[in-house]
Amino acid sequence: MSNAFDIVIFGGFGDLALRKLLPALYRLEISGKLPGGSRILLASSSAGVPGKDVAAVKDWLGKQLNPNESPESHWPQFSQRLLPLQIDVTTNDDHWQALAELLNAKPAHERIFFLAMPPSLFDQTCVNLAARQLIAPTSRVVLEKPLGHDRASAFEINQVVARYFAEPQIFRIDHYLGKETVQNLLALRFANELFEPLWNGQHIDHIQISISEQIGLENRKVFYDQTGAMRDMVQNHLLQLLCLVAMEPPNKLQADKIRTEKLKVLQSLRPVTGHDIPRYVVRGQYVRGILAGQELPSYAEDLGHDSDTETFVALKANVDNWRWSGVPFYLRTGKRMRQRCAEIVIQFRTLTHNVFEGGAGTLHPNRLVIRLQPDEGMQLVLMSKKMNQVELQLQPVALNLNFHDTFANFSSDAYQRLLLNVIQNDLSLFAHVDESLLAWSWVDPIMAAWKRNEPPMHTYEAGTWGPDAAAALLHRDNRTWHNNGFNSNVRNLMKSGGQ
Ligand code: BG6
Repeated sequence: MSNAFDIVIFGGFGDLALRKLLPALYRLEISGKLPGGSRILLASSSAGVPGKDVAAVKDWLGKQLNPNESPESHWPQFSQRLLPLQIDVTTNDDHWQALAELLNAKPAHERIFFLAMPPSLFDQTCVNLAARQLIAPTSRVVLEKPLGHDRASAFEINQVVARYFAEPQIFRIDHYLGKETVQNLLALRFANELFEPLWNGQHIDHIQISISEQIGLENRKVFYDQTGAMRDMVQNHLLQLLCLVAMEPPNKLQADKIRTEKLKVLQSLRPVTGHDIPRYVVRGQYVRGILAGQELPSYAEDLGHDSDTETFVALKANVDNWRWSGVPFYLRTGKRMRQRCAEIVIQFRTLTHNVFEGGAGTLHPNRLVIRLQPDEGMQLVLMSKKMNQVELQLQPVALNLNFHDTFANFSSDAYQRLLLNVIQNDLSLFAHVDESLLAWSWVDPIMAAWKRNEPPMHTYEAGTWGPDAAAALLHRDNRTWHNNGFNSNVRNLMKSGGQ
């Protein structure tokens, strides 16, 4: 069990706190992971009024938790930890004194400051914390994206926070790293003899990493229109996934060692600039279409005005190092796509020599599909003899592993994992400042070209897999996207079973 702590959530009644952080903390309560006496301080300029009080938290938990995680069971214990606190971070008034007194009353508690607020408020918040000497060497600060809109702004935001907190005290959240299936990438690669010897350009033809979403703008119109798919998904989630797939094995699974290996991947990413941009990158925006039988408006209609923000990006990345030389990584993400699906597809090479006679059928290359969500699992596509034919005929078949069938109580609350790591002071699932800046440096030139309308925006109908140009990106390399690789027409060789 970790040391007792006080977590101060600035933006304590905001969307992130109510939808993600408090349910995750409640789940940690249920699993007995919150040390006795630890407190959750909900700081907000309007805390305490109806709708922004402890009762409101209970209502939200009722909405956010699954039916089998009743907020009743551990509520008495959990509610005692909750302390709503009125603080306007833009002022330096007596409310800060109240926070100081609360925190100083428990000097042995480690302090966690979660800044669930726009980065423009970080400086004043830190100034106020520092003025009352509330930042101790054991204190931590947790930051959520978006941290900037390009390298320069990200650098500035990080500089501000670095004036008050040392790098090992800063936890930058990329919630994809908290997903069970993403952490399982490390287990898959480094706990099995089977894959690592094949995990290189000698055996792998290419890799696809896709995060497709069915949702559109929801209630984030202004934010999304200022952000777009490249900043919202590629700069962080997709590049972090690429790092975990491509990195060298760290000699120990420790934060600094993992971060060092991820950094090396980002440093090896071949810059995409100039004439390469139209050949390597496709951006798109959805227009009217039909999704699951329902007619959907265009992005401009959803937004209420025209916009040149991309809701889709597909790109080809190259990692210029020994292991990945000649192996393209195709990344893709979009809103309003046909299915919600996050997947990594490792496409192995075709065998160089075929010993079978012509009538046996084509030799399809092996494929490993890692399904991050939904229906979390893995699929390994192999060639097999058709067992119901006397003659030797070949057919691809699939070994399927469904994590929900295999692991009882499979849970995938990324924030639960990430907050536990913050409590345990473990940085391994958080991005180092250099990772974030390198990722920005890689996407910045592409977005700069887009500003000059080079290349122009493509459109795609809502409910499809994106613009035709995204398919063409792979066709040029004689490849195709595996749209929802799991559902492809492969016979199921063996169902996973057991516990
Ligand atoms: C967030 C983006 O970081 O990730 C959202 O801001 C996106 O636009 C979300 O919808 C996707 O996360 P998940 O976990 O639902 O795949």
